Amino acid sequence: MCFVIKVGVDGSWWKDNLLSKIIFNGFRKILDSGNIPVVDHKEAKMTEKINIELGNVQKTLFLPLWGRAVESRKRKPMLVDETAVRIIDQVNYDFAPITANMDELSQIAWIKRSLICDQVIDKFLEQYPEGTIVNIGCGLDTTFERVNNGKLRWYDLDLPDVIALRGKFIQESERRTFIASSFLDKDWLEQIEVNGNVLFMSAGVFYYFEEETVRDFVLGLLEAYPGSELVFDVSSPVGVRVANKKVVESSGLDERSHLVWGVEDKKDILAWDSRIRLLGMYYYFRTLRIGLRNFLMGTMSDLLGIQYILHLELGELE
Ligand SMILES: C[S@@+](CC[C@H](N)C(=O)[O-])C[C@H]1O[C@@H](n2cnc3c(N)ncnc32)[C@H](O)[C@@H]1O
Repeated sequence: MCFVIKVGVDGSWWKDNLLSKIIFNGFRKILDSGNIPVVDHKEAKMTEKINIELGNVQKTLFLPLWGRAVESRKRKPMLVDETAVRIIDQVNYDFAPITANMDELSQIAWIKRSLICDQVIDKFLEQYPEGTIVNIGCGLDTTFERVNNGKLRWYDLDLPDVIALRGKFIQESERRTFIASSFLDKDWLEQIEVNGNVLFMSAGVFYYFEEETVRDFVLGLLEAYPGSELVFDVSSPVGVRVANKKVVESSGLDERSHLVWGVEDKKDILAWDSRIRLLGMYYYFRTLRIGLRNFLMGTMSDLLGIQYILHLELGELE
């Protein structure tokens, strides 16, 4: 998810004038880093599609999925996810509103979020090569494929309807297990096998819940697995409002898929328990080589703390 603040030239009266339209479009082309490649949905409609029956929050998984498919078709992709491309072609879901309305900066943010999570996982695996990773709210994500070192133990957890859909495209294996459960239903914690230590990752999930709900869940992790790590993305209250309008609603979803929890300050999270320690905080855009327009917007997002990733240690290993 990401935000975009429209600048003055965008949407004002002079866009209707032909000459200014030409100048405007030329100006945009110079500022933009490149067009978002189009994933051809029309062609895919010719073949038989897999029907989707998902709840409203679950449907948000199509946003980062679309972002990864688009990235994979760029000339110089930062990340390649052929599974995402295949899924987009095969599911009976209307991606047209996303393709029509999504700003490139949002698309880049989904990719950067994945890349940061990959880095955190790689670092964790340097210390615990056989360590356990739980991908909470995995959607149709393929982080495992990118970070698999041949030794780790992996769990992909999501609600039962998502896991059912996931199983049509992505397979379990000896070291990779799917868990069909709400992350709030703590029974799954007893199912996981922990070697060395455990890292919980959760991308694009926690802000759909009230802070108290997430806090209680995280404190539960701390009690169950002291010394475990947690990496997840947060959004500020402004980011939540803008994302609901510019990302969720403009993708054809409604308020039932809205983000809820905006973090004023990371200290609020650290204050949940004195045993929680900050291992890292990662912004999305400042290190990216992107076009001028995206760079300016992205830098503003970073400076205002609109969205970022937190990497926490939950107490000390026993
Ligand atoms: C925006 S998607 C992110 C998907 C994935 N992490 C990614 O980045 O592609 C949010 C995901 O959270 C999942 N989710 C929502 N509520 C959940 C819950 N209570 N338990 C487990 N997963 C949940 C949704 O089903 C969905 O797959």
